[in-house]
Amino acid sequence: MAEMSAYDDAVRDLRRAGCVFAEREADVIFAHTDDGGQRRRMVAERVQGAPLEYVVGFAEFAGVTVHVGAPAFIPRHRAAALVDVADRLLPRASSVTALDLGCGCGAIAAALADRHPGWRVHATEVDAAAAAYARTNGATFGFAVHVGDWFDGLPTSLRGALDLVVAHLPYVPSDAVAMMPRDFRGAEPRRVVDGGSDGLDPWRAVAPRATAWLASGGALLSQLAANQVEAALAIGAAAGWRSSIASAGTTGEDNVVVLVSRLAG
Ligand SMILES: C[S@@+](CC[C@H](N)C(=O)[O-])C[C@H]1O[C@@H](n2cnc3c(N)ncnc32)[C@H](O)[C@@H]1O
Repeated sequence: MAEMSAYDDAVRDLRRAGCVFAEREADVIFAHTDDGGQRRRMVAERVQGAPLEYVVGFAEFAGVTVHVGAPAFIPRHRAAALVDVADRLLPRASSVTALDLGCGCGAIAAALADRHPGWRVHATEVDAAAAAYARTNGATFGFAVHVGDWFDGLPTSLRGALDLVVAHLPYVPSDAVAMMPRDFRGAEPRRVVDGGSDGLDPWRAVAPRATAWLASGGALLSQLAANQVEAALAIGAAAGWRSSIASAGTTGEDNVVVLVSRLAG
C-alpha cells in the first residue's frame, strides 16, 4: 500500500511538472531502483527539468541500452534511421570497418556493434566528458573510442579504410534551437545540436575532410532536415560526394532524411 502511494505521488508530481508520459516515466524510475529515497530524488530532479535519461543515467536507442549523462547528447529515436539505413546498405557484410562520427555517448556505435558482432566499430567525439560515456558503452558493446575534432583523433591506419561513416552531426539552425523541447534545451550543451545559421556548418566542415577516410565504395551517412537537403547536396558535391536520400519510410519522420554519400567518380 505504501509502495502504491509512493508510485501515485511520483506520477502526480511528474504530471504537475508537465511530464506528458508521467506513468511511463515513473515506471522507468521505479524499475531502476528499489530505494525509496533515491526514487524521490530522481522524481525531484525530473520535476526540476532534468531529462529522464540524465536522471536514470541510461537511454534506449535502436534496440540497445546505453549509459548517458550530462554533457553528452541524449540519443534521439529518429537517429535510429541511420542504423537502419546502414543495415540495408551492408546487410550481410561481415568485414566492415565503421565509424560513428561525433558519437556523443556512442549510441550509434553501440547499435552497430550489437547488430554486427563481426564489424570493427570506432567512434570519435570532440567532448572528452561525452567520450567518457562512450568508453563505458564501448567496453560493453565492443567499439573503440577516440577524442578529437572530427577525424583528427583517429589513428592514421583508418585513413582510406572506413567502409561506413555514420555522421549524426549537429544540424539545427541556430535560430531554431530555441524551439527544441525544453528538457533537451535546458540540459544539453548548445553545441551538440547547433549547426550554425543554416544548420549545415558541421556538414561543411566534415564533407571535405571525410573523403580521405572512406575506403573505395564506402558510404557516408548523415541525417538532416528535409529542407536542408538541397544545400547539403551542393556542399557535398563541391567536396566530391555523390549523394542520394535513403528511401522514404526508413527515416522515421517526414521532415528528417538520411543522406547516403559516396565518393564521386
Ligand atoms: C547531434 S549529436 C549526435 C551524437 C550521437 N552521434 C548520437 O546520435 O547520439 C552531435 C555530436 O557531434 C559532436 N561534435 C560537435 N562538434 C564536433 C567536432 N568538431 N568533432 C567531433 N564531434 C563533434 C557533439 O559533441 C555531439 O556529441
